[in-house]
Parts: sequence; structure tokens; C-alpha cells
Amino acid sequence: MVNVAILGFGVVGSGVAEVLATNGPHIDKKVDDLIRLKYILDVRDFPESPFADKVIHDFSIIENDPEVNIVVETIGGAKVALDFTRRALAAGKSVVTSNKELVAEHGCELLQLAQEKGVSYLFEASVGGGIPIIRPLNQCLAANEIEEISGILNGTTNYILTRMIRAGLSFDAALKEAQQNGYAEQDPTADIEGHDACRKICILASLAFGRHVYPRQVPTEGITGVTLADVAYADACGKKIKLLGRAIHRDDGKVCAYVAPHLVDVEDPLAGVEDVFNAIAVKGNAIGDVMFYGRGAGKLPTASAVVADVIDAARHKDAKKRMVWAEGGDDVAVPPTDLESDWYVRAEGTLEAVKAAFPDVSLLPRAGAPENEFAFLAPSMTRSALDGKLAGLKPCSVFRVLG
Ligand code: HSE
Repeated sequence: MVNVAILGFGVVGSGVAEVLATNGPHIDKKVDDLIRLKYILDVRDFPESPFADKVIHDFSIIENDPEVNIVVETIGGAKVALDFTRRALAAGKSVVTSNKELVAEHGCELLQLAQEKGVSYLFEASVGGGIPIIRPLNQCLAANEIEEISGILNGTTNYILTRMIRAGLSFDAALKEAQQNGYAEQDPTADIEGHDACRKICILASLAFGRHVYPRQVPTEGITGVTLADVAYADACGKKIKLLGRAIHRDDGKVCAYVAPHLVDVEDPLAGVEDVFNAIAVKGNAIGDVMFYGRGAGKLPTASAVVADVIDAARHKDAKKRMVWAEGGDDVAVPPTDLESDWYVRAEGTLEAVKAAFPDVSLLPRAGAPENEFAFLAPSMTRSALDGKLAGLKPCSVFRVLG
């Protein structure tokens, strides 16, 4: 018998209980053992829930129960969740989580603690919701040197951008719609400012490149600066605006990681990823390009990934080799200062100033644009070189072009 305790009975935690109950017989057959939900820890009671009899409020009951083998942490955040995760691992229990904030900030420490204790710390659901990406990166692509990861890692912002592009909604109207549909939180800051995507690219980069990349090391720009004017100019040059998290393995061994809106060619598979879907493109030196696509959020898709990790932990109770990465540092991650790319620029100024700085660029058309507004694609250079050329103009939007 494998006993499971769920910490936090919110959207994901209740989804995990539901999947374990609905698919129980099928899951037991796969594990060749009986997986049973023993406790649900939450500060609230759920008298109407079919799982009401499992709800407890004291973590030490789980910590001190030798029958609990696997703890599912779906509390979120990096405070209580960190304390409970450390204590569960220290007590010799495997921990499975969807908590990207915790993994992005403390993954290295928690993986090492799990290794010391001979248990697993698994977090497939922390990136891309139900999309398999952590295990494929760690196992199926293990033969490769990973060169680059670029992903649409946040469903809420992808939904907002899709509605701006497809329906012509303003950013504010699209955000409101995302909130009404239950995609965006009432406080949408972590999504729209890019922090959520930042945490996810940190996890992918740490796993792919073997050293911890921390959120504070990753320059992050969200989508609050994207306007319908930018959407129209992008359309005029056959591109779509997408918020990408990117991690690039440089020749000097460092990882260049950042999150920012990009112009993506309509022919690029990432451009076709719409609504709340996520996609992660990985480039390996043997496999070339591979892409993972699917539902990046939601109760059951995320629970699907969590329960798969529960099954993995149950199947590999005695496995010696575990997922792990080394401590990070200033020698690991670098900002995209030296990263050259083409650029999309929307700026205010005069035509003379544009032509003086960029003699060869073609201006992009937009119906109803003010006379002093100019948009164009600038050729490949670093951001500081671009800023130097833009000195005679007032830049409104500056986004990298993927390619
Ligand atoms: N807020 C996240 C998103 C949830 O919109 O993608 C999944 O991590």
C-alpha cells in the first residue's frame, strides 16, 4: 500500500484527489500496488466534499505518520510550502508538487535533500501544467547538449495576446475577459508582469544546464506594454506577438535567460499556439528541434501531471539515481546584453530621425497611425547598439524578433 497526503485542497489539490479517485483501479494496476489518499491538509474544512473525512489541519500528523509515503504539495508560494516540503523530505517521504515558485527558488536545495534521504522530489506539473516537459528534458533528451529552450510558458498572457490579435480587444479588455473566464487571478500581476513565466524558464534552464538559475538573475518583461498598435504592425510584417521565456546555452558555458514579448513569424510553430495553450521548443545538438504543446494550466491537466509523478514516486521507491542540479551563482546566468537579434521598434519622432539612424529600413503601415509614429524592423544587433541608434527618437515599444 502506498499512502498519499495532499497539502492544500485548492484547484490543483482537489483535482489530484479527483484523478486518484476516478482512475484509482487503473493507477493501481500501473504501480502494481494500492495507492490510497490518506490525508488532505488545509486550513479550511470541506463538509460537502466526498473527501471531507480525510481533511486535517495539523501537518505534524502527516510528518509523523510512517505510513505516508508520498506528499503532494499544492499549497503554492515559497513560505509554508517550503517548510512543509523540507520536513516531509527530512521525514523520508517523497514530495510531488506543482509549485513553480518553490522549485524556481529552492529546487537545488530540495533536490539535494531528497537525494540525501533516498526519496524523490518531482515537479512535472510546475511547468506547462499537463504538458510532459520535465521528464522528457531529464530523460528522453538526456543524450543531447541542450542549446536553447524557448517557450510560451504562461496561459493567461497567451490568452490575452490571442484576444488582442484575434478580436482586437485592448489589453485591459482582454485581461478582464481572462479574469471572467477564470484564467487570470483577481491580482494578475505574476502572470502579466512575466514572473510566472520567469519561474518556469528558471526551472527548465536549471534542469537542462545543470546549475540553478534563480528568478532574480532573469530579466523579465511582461505584456503590459503591448498595445493594439504593436499587434497591427506585427501583422503588417507577417508576425505575431508572443511572450517568450528563453534560455540559451552560450559558447562560454553560461546561460542567457530572460522573459520578454517577441515578434514571432506566423510560419513558426510557436505563432500557432493560441488561447491558454503553452508550447516549449527545445533545441538539442542531436535531436535538433522538438516542441511540446498542450494545456499549460487548469485543474485536471495539472492534476494529470501531479498524479503521474505520484505514480513515478510509487514505482521507484528504491531508485538510487535521482534528478538533481548543482547550486547556482553569478557565474551561471547572464542577461541578454550580448544577445544580438533583429528588433521591432515603434517610436515617436520624425522621418528624418528614423532615416538618419536606420537608412535602409522599411516603415510598417498601420491605418490611423499618428503622423509622428513610426514602426520598423531593425537589423540584428545588441540592445545597447539599438538604444544608441534610437537616441534621436522616443521609443514606445521595442521587442526582439525571434529567428
Ligand atoms: N497562471 C498560470 C498560467 C497557471 O496562466 O499559465 C499555470 O502555471
